[in-house]
Amino acid sequence: MGSLVDPYNRSITYMRVSITDRCNLRCVYCMPEEGLNWTPSDELLSYDELIRIISVAAKRGLKKVRITGGEPLVRKGVVGFVERLNQIEGLDELALTTNAVFLKDMASDLYKAGLKRINISLDSLDPKTFSEVVRRDIFPMVWEGIEEAERVGFEPIKINVVLQQGVNDHEVMDFVDLTRRKPYHIRFIEYMPCANWDTWVKTYKPFQTVVDEVEKKIGKMEPVSGSNENNSGPAENFRIPGAPGVVGFIHAVSHDFCDTCNRVRLSADGDIRPCLFSEIAVNFREAIRNGCSDEEIDGLLDQVLYVKPLYHELDVMPKEKKLTNMISIGG
Ligand code: GTP
Ligand code: 5AD
Ligand code: SF4
Repeated sequence: MGSLVDPYNRSITYMRVSITDRCNLRCVYCMPEEGLNWTPSDELLSYDELIRIISVAAKRGLKKVRITGGEPLVRKGVVGFVERLNQIEGLDELALTTNAVFLKDMASDLYKAGLKRINISLDSLDPKTFSEVVRRDIFPMVWEGIEEAERVGFEPIKINVVLQQGVNDHEVMDFVDLTRRKPYHIRFIEYMPCANWDTWVKTYKPFQTVVDEVEKKIGKMEPVSGSNENNSGPAENFRIPGAPGVVGFIHAVSHDFCDTCNRVRLSADGDIRPCLFSEIAVNFREAIRNGCSDEEIDGLLDQVLYVKPLYHELDVMPKEKKLTNMISIGG
């Protein structure tokens, strides 16, 4: 079996693995206030099943796994899962994206289990605005979680800020200033249409002018070289001269980084999606529960490669299709 290369010659080295669709927060851009119908636990892939798929992919050149959710830290046994992932030959990067609510308690165990990189969603530095976005009054716990992650040695700590016009876009400079004091990588993310169309129309803020606006206030930032090599994400990164932290921009909607896409997404219920916005997915759960061989898993991986689209087609997609269910795909 050859390595994981799609028909457009893109090498797939990165798998985002959602281990649950549940979440303890209710971010306005991600979920309705009342929550969703969670997938029953017998329909979720077990840790054994996840490890099996990832091990087969690692034999074909998968290098990086990011654990996502929902909120991955709400699923029991995640520390043991990290330990097992850490033993898979060929995987050289293990990361996790979390809302940090449980991080204060879990950061140390996750680090000891072999997790080295952590990305945290934090849309506001103001407790009141934060609680409006996540619909929970929980800022202090999240902030303590971030500080604990720094204390136990996670490096770098990336902070994802989904920017919404009129909601948190007045805080851009506060986040930029944070990089002068902390070694965090702040990454502003363009709000992608999902869950709530009306909110998206009202608050979507394209990023074309944001870098210019920041530089008008603080002068030119230095582009950070090497930030987009290998398995790294689609962020365009800068540094204020002399600052310990980094300021990044992810043009998730307006910028087309699909030609260098290196990732696929495994959902908690066992589908691999070739693109964040694709409707097509290849189901692995049924085959695995029917006792399939590793060769059959290889065949399913080939199907994923075969259907991977050249780009996300967001610009030509009808409205209803754009409402990707981010929570079950893990962003
Ligand atoms: P790093 O490895 O640290 O660079 O992580 P990452 O950027 O891959 O992961 P993270 O979970 O922090 O995601 C950051 C943001 O980028 C999220 O809003 C994702 O949905 C978005 N993102 C990641 N991959 C893609 C992609 O393939 N397409 C689009 N449009 N957005 C993406
Ligand atoms: N648009 C952009 N980013 C989103 N995320 C979740 N929903 C959206 C959206 N609609 C981000 C979260 C998290 C990451 C995995 O995806 O903030 O940090
Ligand atoms: Fe939970 Fe993340 Fe969705 Fe917020 S964006 S509701 S933290 S899964």
